[in-house]
Order: sequence, then C-alpha cells, then structure tokens
Amino acid sequence: MKIFLDTANIESIKKYNDMGLVDGVTTNPTLLAKEKGNPAEIMREIVRMVDGPVSLEVVGTTAGTMLEEAYRLKKYGKNVVVKIPMIPEGLVAVKKLKADGIETNVTLVFSANQAILAAKAGAAYVSPFIGRLDDSGQDGMSLIREIVQIFSNYQFDTNVLVASVRHPMHVVEAGKIGAHVVTLPPDILGKMLTHPLTDKGLSTFLSDWEKVKKENPNLVI
Ligand code: G3P
Repeated sequence: MKIFLDTANIESIKKYNDMGLVDGVTTNPTLLAKEKGNPAEIMREIVRMVDGPVSLEVVGTTAGTMLEEAYRLKKYGKNVVVKIPMIPEGLVAVKKLKADGIETNVTLVFSANQAILAAKAGAAYVSPFIGRLDDSGQDGMSLIREIVQIFSNYQFDTNVLVASVRHPMHVVEAGKIGAHVVTLPPDILGKMLTHPLTDKGLSTFLSDWEKVKKENPNLVI
C-alpha cells in the first residue's frame, strides 16, 4: 500500500518525508488556499521535496484550458501527476495527456461508473472521495471495494487512490480491500503512528532502566 500525504503544507511533508513515510503527495485548490505564500512556488517546492508522484490540480473547466494548465504544471518536475476533475471535458484532457505520456489523477470520483470511465479514458489514478460519501450518508468504503474489484476483473492498470480519508480505520479497511494508494491528511498519519500502550510501555522501560543504572553507575550501552 502506498501512502501519499493530502496536503500543501511544506512542514508536514518534510516531517513525514524524514521518516520515509511519504510515497507521494496530493494537493488541491482548497489545500493550497490554506497555506501562506505563492501557490505556484509552494507546488514547485513540494515537487522538489518529494521523490514520488505529486498531484497538482488544474482549475480550468474546458479541455483546452485544462490542457494548457497541465503542460505548464508538468514543467514543475518529472514527478508531476496532473489532477483533473471528473467531468466530460476532463476526460477529453485525460485522453490527450495520456497520449502525450503525462500521468493524470481523476479527482472528485463518487461512483464506480465514474471510476470505470476515468480508467477507460487513460487515468493513471482515480480518486474516490470516501469521507464525503460517508458525510452524505453513503458508505464510502463500499465504493472502494467495488472499484478495486472491477479494476481487478479487467486488469485495468489505473491505481485506486483512496481520498477524503477521515480516520485511521479508513486506512486499515482500504488496505484489507487492496486499494493501491491512500492519501492522508497529516493529522491522520500522526494518529496512525501512536498508541497509548506504546507510550506506557516505553515509560516503564525507561523507569526500570533508571533502577538498573543506580545499581550499575558506570554502565554504558
Ligand atoms: O484530495 C482531496 C480529498 O482528499 C478531499 O478531502 O477532506 O476535503 O473531503 P476532504
């Protein structure tokens, strides 16, 4: 399972990159709007920092404008994946970009049918938004199950990128289903790292070691 960070926050990316946990990054206009600074510069910096794929989203809504933006974004770095909204014009852009050898991530996917069509158009990734489905009273994880099964039935080479993740159990469930990638807000990755029994256990080890040191003042390990 690949872990991408769903953020445009440079500090968070650096923090988890230093732990070797960042296989890639996904951004979107909302995430960029939360950060201070020039969004284009932030995107360039993320592309420089991360070895894996970095999804940068277009804001045009016609195939022509999306393609113009895509070619500009692709110049930020070889690892740029162009994020395209799941609309008919978007699929026209996906098809053309695929022909040009540029990878795309089709975003705002809310149904298995949309995922099938994005894959058929040539997307390298589809991003179903499971948390937003949960929020609206549907079961986001069922959608992941459907898409993973359909893509597997037909050996589609499009990756299922689980997006709009709200809590660590989403990650466990996505892994059990066999989704290729989860993209996580940094706070969810932080929650995955910790466990109260780890902290409690470490505290006991350290206090017991203090007793050992008292009995062996010159001990060095
Ligand atoms: O990549 C975007 C997606 O993960 C959106 O998440 O939390 O805004 O539904 P959210």
